[in-house]
Amino acid sequence: YGNTGSCDSKITYLDGDNGILRHRGYPIDQLARYSDFVETAYLVIYGELPTPTQRKDFGLLLRKNAAVETQMQKILEGFPTNASPMAMLSALVSALPAYHADLATNNFEKDMKHFDLAAAIAISKIRTFVAMIYRYQKGLPFMFPKQELPFCDNFLHMMFSEPYKDYIAMPEVAKALNLVLLLHADHEQNCSTSTVRMVGSSAANLFTSISAGVCALSGPLHGGANVAVMHMLQSIHDEGDDGTRFIAAAKSGTKGNRLMGFGHAVYRNFDPRAKIIGEACDEVLNKLGIDDPLLSIAKNLEQAALKDDYFISRKLYPNVDFYSGIIMRALGIPMNMFTTMFAIGRAPGYIANWREVASNPKGRIYRPRQIYVGHTKRDYVSIAKRT
Ligand code: ACO
Repeated sequence: YGNTGSCDSKITYLDGDNGILRHRGYPIDQLARYSDFVETAYLVIYGELPTPTQRKDFGLLLRKNAAVETQMQKILEGFPTNASPMAMLSALVSALPAYHADLATNNFEKDMKHFDLAAAIAISKIRTFVAMIYRYQKGLPFMFPKQELPFCDNFLHMMFSEPYKDYIAMPEVAKALNLVLLLHADHEQNCSTSTVRMVGSSAANLFTSISAGVCALSGPLHGGANVAVMHMLQSIHDEGDDGTRFIAAAKSGTKGNRLMGFGHAVYRNFDPRAKIIGEACDEVLNKLGIDDPLLSIAKNLEQAALKDDYFISRKLYPNVDFYSGIIMRALGIPMNMFTTMFAIGRAPGYIANWREVASNPKGRIYRPRQIYVGHTKRDYVSIAKRT
């Protein structure tokens, strides 16, 4: 699969050798500096930066579709409170077609007529689901979204407000959250996005396809890596180690001992998102007055690995997950919710990729071939004769 261009796409350009990432032609560092999550989501999905009117209309559609049907709360309440947030999220997303049957008919032509609304519902409600999951697990009442709040502020409100006291996000917090989500908006044919395309190619509707992507994202080598990084940094901290033991274990090549947040299936150079998020980490923690010992451990570990021949020769550099967890922790988001945050960020990429599949008049169902390495033909042996 790694040697195959699995599709034609106009969404994201990624040059792993040179550490280049562009959405619709725009470099990620320019988007990170000048754009925000909602605008970048529009760009990724529709192919152009929005005009002021398009930006306003898109924002309005997101605001109008943030609230979740009360019945859907019952789906969530059917889960044990200690269930995996990603399992809850994929279940809620896969239930969306039941609540929006007219937008999710499993017929490309019909579904594309309602695409704008379905896309807005997906982006906006995935965010609401994540806040609901957090509050359900903590035994807190759900907070309704507020239409007047911008996307990230609204999320922080749904996460952290109390019925008797509004949480008002500091501008730095909302800005940092925008950055984290924006940096995850799309990333070419990664495991979960390819899954969305694969499922979508069977004419499955947008919500069902995204829900499959959420399942793919849950694995520790993909969306779960940010949690694994935090566990690793925490263990180094608890053991009072300087990271030497983890680096040595990672170099041993034994299974389960990789240096988490390092290496990438495509980048053979710095992940450009890691550079941006690494710098933002310093800025955000400074502004919030947080002194997180895990940040200095991460920096030392990065420096040690970048000088080590094992990592140099294999072109292993920090990826986006190496620092994203530290920022999210500073924003008050607990570790078990990190991968769901990734899902909020990646929703535009899933939607844009599904749209390409659904609107391709020459599209066919995805059906890769394999290299068969099993037995050649054998004759059936009755059970009595088997030893
Ligand atoms: N620590 C130690 N060794 C590593 C690491 C690592 N993090 N990553 C790769 N290697 C080694 C491999 O074992 C291999 O060694 P070998 O040549 O001696 O056999 C060599 O480096 C080359 O590996 P790749 O082919 O580059 O790795 P692959 O494409 O199979 O895997 C992956 C990529 C899964 C991301 C891997 O680097 C990894 O497990 N990293 C840690 C988990 C992680 O951070 N994942 C997040 C990815 S980004 C994202 O999903 C948003």
